[in-house]
This record gives sequence, structure tokens and C-alpha cells, in this order.
Amino acid sequence: MKHLMSPLDMSVEELDKLLDLANDIEKHPEKYAHVCEGKRLATLFYEPSTRTRLSFEAAMMNLGGKVMGFSEASSSSAAKGESVADTIRVISCYADIAAMRHPKEGAPLVASMASSIPVINAGDGGHQHPTQTLTDLLTIRSLKGRLDNLTIGLCGDLKFGRTVHSLIEALVRYTGIKFVLISPEELRVPSYIREDVLEKNHVEYEEVERLEDALPELDLLYMTRVQKERFFNEEDYVRMKDFYILDAAKMQLAGPDMLVLHPLPRVNEIAVEVDKDPRAAYFKQAQYGVYVRMALILTLLEVEVC
Ligand code: CP
Repeated sequence: MKHLMSPLDMSVEELDKLLDLANDIEKHPEKYAHVCEGKRLATLFYEPSTRTRLSFEAAMMNLGGKVMGFSEASSSSAAKGESVADTIRVISCYADIAAMRHPKEGAPLVASMASSIPVINAGDGGHQHPTQTLTDLLTIRSLKGRLDNLTIGLCGDLKFGRTVHSLIEALVRYTGIKFVLISPEELRVPSYIREDVLEKNHVEYEEVERLEDALPELDLLYMTRVQKERFFNEEDYVRMKDFYILDAAKMQLAGPDMLVLHPLPRVNEIAVEVDKDPRAAYFKQAQYGVYVRMALILTLLEVEVC
């Protein structure tokens, strides 16, 4: 039984194989259109989502499978006090694979321990978002042609941003990676990421506050939203929410090949005028999310396609 809780659950070789499969799915979707007929995916979302839930559902439907699930805790028996362990034991009788998003860190891991079907962490609190990372890696490799020798700016909420934590953990395994961590003092990456991931792996990084200073040296800028739902008080959120706004004027400071990624949803941190810049890749990134989730479902269900 295999689950996906963190990008580190896969070796670099397994990841490369998954990304190759996703690229093949992109090129030859017809080859995969019926390979999951008779299989069911359950999407168990205790927290709001547009991309992750619907791209998982699109992925399973593209493979010929069926989907079921709930999109908010209040419409499930969690509202009556059911534990995630009991829920997954029951869902194991109805589905072949499950994707779970939960506001509590570690909830999908608890579910995986009680499950008899593969469980995918679709985002747990401020902790990890491994399928977003798979999406990001596929986007970077497809559009930049490599996952090594890159200077990557991560900008915004680096403290609570689970997409950032998962992406750093995945990318430190490649050579020649340098991170520029762009955030206000209050939203710096947690010390466990700095010490146990970056420093332990001898990865070059710097922490800066001004986006303008970082832009000229970046191969890739990964913007993130300041997440209202992770703040304990409204006043702090209001103070931080518009700290960074990437607009057309700032894009002029960046190199001609610098990609702009964002896990989405965005609020104000990327001005809409940037969408038409050829370096803006965040909507393509959302499309790559379907291919990589198709590849992940096939891999965890051990479906071989000739
Ligand atoms: N990127 C991402 O996780 O988006 P959703 O919250 O819409 O799923």
C-alpha cells in the first residue's frame, strides 16, 4: 500500500518517472482515456479548494474512472464528530483511492494509517501540499527544461505557505539550486525548514524583504498569497496582505526568461496586467496539475499502460 503524504515519499528517480508519465499523458491523452474504468476516487475535502479537488476529479474522469466525495466538512459526518480514521475506514469500502484536504496538520497521515486504500495528502494545514509540488516540478521541468541549476525566488507568506514548504523539500535534492526567500520578517520560513532542510542539505539561500532587489537574478519567481485563514487576528492579516504586489513595472526588473508561478488562488499579489506577460505561467501550471494527478493516480493504483 502506497500513500503520498510528502514529496519526500518519492525518490528523485520515482519522481522523474512520474513526471515522464505526466508528459506522456499530456502528449497522448487518448492512450489513457479508459485505463481506470471501474475505479473510483473519493475526494474528502474538509477545507475549501477549487484547483486541487477539481483537478483530481478531472484527472480521474480523464482516465475513465468515477469520482465521489464532499467539498466541506459541514456536509460530512465530521460535523457529527466522526474522526478521519473512522471516515477513511468507511470510504475504503466505497472507493479505490482517496485525496484528502484537512485544516489540521497530519490529518491525512492519520487517515492513511487506518486506510486500506491509497490516501493522497491534498494539503494539510500549513504543513505540506505534495501534489501542488508535483504540479510545480512538472511545470518547471516542462517550461525550463530542467530541475537543477536554478535560482528560485519564493515570495509572500513563507511561514504558513504549505506549497512553499513542500517545494523547498523537493528541490533541495537537485544540484545547483539557490533560494531567495522574499518575505516580511513576520512571514519568514519556519526555522525547521531553514535548519533541517536548507542548512542540513547545504543549500544556498538568502532571506530578503524587497522583491525589487531579488528580481534581476531569478530564473523563477514563485509568488504566494498571504493566507487570511492562517492568521490568528484580522489586524495582522490586513497589515500583511498587500505587502507584495507584482505588477508590469516590477516585471521590467526581471530577466526575459524568468517564469512567474503561483499555486493560486491569487488575491492582489499579482496584478491582472501581468497575466498577458509571456513569462506568467500560473494558468499553465494549473493545467499541468491535471496531468500530474493523472500520473499519480495511475502510479498509486499500479495501473500499467503500454
Ligand atoms: N493551489 C491550490 O491548492 O488551490 P486550491 O486551494 O484552489 O485547491
